[in-house]
Amino acid sequence: MLSLAKPRLCLFIIISICHQIPGELDLFGLAKVEVPLTDKLVNVMKPSKECEPSLTIYTNGQHPCKNRLIFEDNFERPFINKTKWVVEQYTPITHGPPDYEFVSYEINDNTLFIKDNKLILNPVPATSLDQVLGTLDLREGCTSFVEDQCFYQQVSGYILPPVKSARISSKFSFTYGKIEIKAKLPVGDWIYPQIQLLPRVKSNAEIQLLPRVKSNAGAKLWIAYSRGNSYYIGPNGDIGNTVLFGGLVLGFEEPARSRLTSKNKAAVPYGDDFNLYTLIWEPEKITVLFNNQTYGSYQIDTSDKRFNHFGNEFFLSIGLGVGGINDFPDNYTTNNPKPWTNTHTKQLKTFFDARDTWSSTWRKTNVQLQIDSVKIWSL
Ligand SMILES: *[C@@H]1O[C@H](CO)[C@@H](O)[C@H](O)[C@H]1NC(C)=O
Ligand SMILES: *[C@@H]1O[C@H](CO)[C@@H](O)[C@H](O)[C@H]1NC(C)=O
Ligand SMILES: *[C@@H]1O[C@H](CO)[C@@H](O)[C@H](O)[C@H]1NC(C)=O
Repeated sequence: MLSLAKPRLCLFIIISICHQIPGELDLFGLAKVEVPLTDKLVNVMKPSKECEPSLTIYTNGQHPCKNRLIFEDNFERPFINKTKWVVEQYTPITHGPPDYEFVSYEINDNTLFIKDNKLILNPVPATSLDQVLGTLDLREGCTSFVEDQCFYQQVSGYILPPVKSARISSKFSFTYGKIEIKAKLPVGDWIYPQIQLLPRVKSNAEIQLLPRVKSNAGAKLWIAYSRGNSYYIGPNGDIGNTVLFGGLVLGFEEPARSRLTSKNKAAVPYGDDFNLYTLIWEPEKITVLFNNQTYGSYQIDTSDKRFNHFGNEFFLSIGLGVGGINDFPDNYTTNNPKPWTNTHTKQLKTFFDARDTWSSTWRKTNVQLQIDSVKIWSL
């Protein structure tokens, strides 16, 4: 069990993810966030010809100059820069929402590494029954403060998560900016990228509340989202791997989840190549671009309380999800039948039992989420 006495920095959506970091405690008993910045940036705005006022706000309330690079990673060294990133370790299935992915996020050189200046998130499926029986002890380095997400015990048909995967979170957080990610999205059944901005929550009061306040907890910004299945056809057409989603996400479940997001259809899977995914987050508008072409924007009604969250601090989260109960609606037409339903209780088992089918669509590096660069600019 994790000790609550140590300083932690907590990232909250509805699940609560805490990180032990060194540093002073603030009034709420949380460690102060150290904001790593690139060398290039000018920290405080002093309006002048060279430094125009920016909309972007840092954690400390200060503003950078306009149009400056305020966070960057090109993955030029063979290791993850821990000043910039937290490597997540927990099992989301135990205490979702939001998505109850069928994976364990682990600090693991096979699922997260840097190769040829690219960050690679590589899903590793279990291949035999003995790998999903027994216990999964993630307590050493666990980034969730929910005990169940750090130590998982198989009980009869309730097996261990059948895929090991990866997820990282930026320590840097900010309000308003332009985010550019050059990435190759994963291709393969039931896989999806999580390239998103998530709200950073700062007080104990919010920590107590959030797990129950569903309406707020789904708030996030999708920078690039596309299911890996070759097609996935429902009442509103195909939502498979030639369809990209980006923008504002207000809730957990479809159709509400992607009601406000923008959609872009391509001739070939998004995972065929590296592409540039951009999200511009302004106080009253969210715009998404694919290879510098705008494919959607959403005007925020700032008088509508549901959008209050989008004036708060967000951090960048990059992960690779598999399965789950919100990403793949039931009864859609697809290349291989969906091996679970979103309300079934032994989803991990039925998913695992169908591994011969889905793993035949998981081809070498195609299943990986590969990140070439991450850049955040002030507005
Ligand atoms: C890691 O990131 C920090 C903050 O951006 C930077 O100052 C430092 O040089 C980076 N370390 C390496 C080894 O690149
Ligand atoms: C997007 O625009 C930038 C700046 O104009 C340019 O350097 C880059 O090559 C463009 N990228 C793509 C994929 O079109
Ligand atoms: C899917 O189809 C099955 C069988 O026809 C039906 O029982 C179930 O309610 C459907 N589920 C959804 C979410 O429509």
